[in-house]
Amino acid sequence: MKVTVFGTGYVGLVSGTCLAEMGHEVICVDVDQDKIDGLNAGRIPIYEPGLEPMVVRNHRLGTLQFTTDAESAVQAGEVIFIAVGTPPDEDGSADLQYVLAVARTIGQHMQSHKTVVDKSTVPVGTADKVRAAITQELAARDAQIGFDVVSNPEFLKEGAAIEDFMKPDRIVVGVDSKAAGEVMRNLYAPFARTKDKLIVMDIRSAELTKYAANALLATKISFMNEIANLAERVGADVEAVRRGIGSDPRIGYQFIFPGCGYGGSCFPKDVQALERTARANAYEARILSAVEATNAEQKKVLFSKLSGHFGGDLAGKRIAVWGLSFKPNTDDMREAPSRTLMEAVWQAGGSVQAFDPEAMEETRRIYGQRDDLTLCDSAIEALTDADALVICTEWSQFRTANFKQLKSHLKGRVVVDGRNLWVPEELAREGFYYYAIGRPV
Ligand code: UGA
Repeated sequence: MKVTVFGTGYVGLVSGTCLAEMGHEVICVDVDQDKIDGLNAGRIPIYEPGLEPMVVRNHRLGTLQFTTDAESAVQAGEVIFIAVGTPPDEDGSADLQYVLAVARTIGQHMQSHKTVVDKSTVPVGTADKVRAAITQELAARDAQIGFDVVSNPEFLKEGAAIEDFMKPDRIVVGVDSKAAGEVMRNLYAPFARTKDKLIVMDIRSAELTKYAANALLATKISFMNEIANLAERVGADVEAVRRGIGSDPRIGYQFIFPGCGYGGSCFPKDVQALERTARANAYEARILSAVEATNAEQKKVLFSKLSGHFGGDLAGKRIAVWGLSFKPNTDDMREAPSRTLMEAVWQAGGSVQAFDPEAMEETRRIYGQRDDLTLCDSAIEALTDADALVICTEWSQFRTANFKQLKSHLKGRVVVDGRNLWVPEELAREGFYYYAIGRPV
């Protein structure tokens, strides 16, 4: 099938590339000329395992094209994905201006029937707005051309996006016509060889499904973070509790790892947006507000442990920070707990020596040159002469504590572990003050 994808961010680029990989002819459109030039030259704007070779291969084969020419891209695609950003606006609601701008572009240029697919995470009711925007443009040029609007939310995880797209556990499709359902079934047929993964429903339910999924996952994390905080206060070990409850299949082992708060572009934004949607519909979503508030507090936990150790005085202290991205296998630092920590350290007069396997460039882009931030080339370099180490992200290379290395480089004997990677007893035996999340000190 001929597919056009608007937006070459995480969702758009991964979706377009995977659809091309499965044999569709894909054109990806973006307004950012630099990004498109880069992609045409084989430069991938994000770090995502497995993405680069797939982009390069399909681009070479001609099944994946990149352009800023929206007009011909609209004309080429039978199916047109909208995968542009929906950043939070001032009050936390999802800002739909980019989505609706694409809808208008489609309405302006389409010459034949189109199936327009919302892939961006958009509030319930957006499909109606997309439909209205297209209809308005068609009316303005007196064109009578049929189209369908479909909601097809994306469930991919950064760092595992290719795998999630290629081997989905479900494909949610919201339609209001049989024909649109058939188009989507054909589009995704190559992804559903062994089992039909398509869950077809009405449009509003599909839109809500995406938010409900993210909100429930965020709730699990905030819940566990509360239990961890409680464990610390009652002298229990949350790691034991986690194993204890995960064994109940109704709870499950996934997504109950306590930590220093969830980050990224999805959970923080989506929980907020869903809460705002509830409010706009005269409903107070109390659990969602609590999930959000708990997370905001949890992001401060690393700093309060660190500062607590030094009696509230971090002035002149050098803090080694390992892991800057909001989670491993990505360079994405949006809403990352590391940022809350570093900014608090600076505020308190301390300095940071930071290392992340992928996010160094992103850190430089965000914070620029500053005297109280040293960007290090290795984990060891970050430790050198530091008063304490704080682990913010669970990259696998941090999982094993190398005490020889720690002792020879780290000046202080203080480790704050925001991801419970190490064994408290070992750290104690080696003479470290070890602060984890929800574990006895
Ligand atoms: C999330 C969802 O998992 C995807 O299904 C969804 O498609 C995506 O949002 C989206 O809406 O686009 P993502 O934000 O990439 O994906 O990352 P996750 O792996 O879900 O992690 C989110 C945050 O939760 C991270 O900060 C992570 O450190 C934290 N987390 C996760 C925990 O603190 N504990 C856990 O047990 C699991």
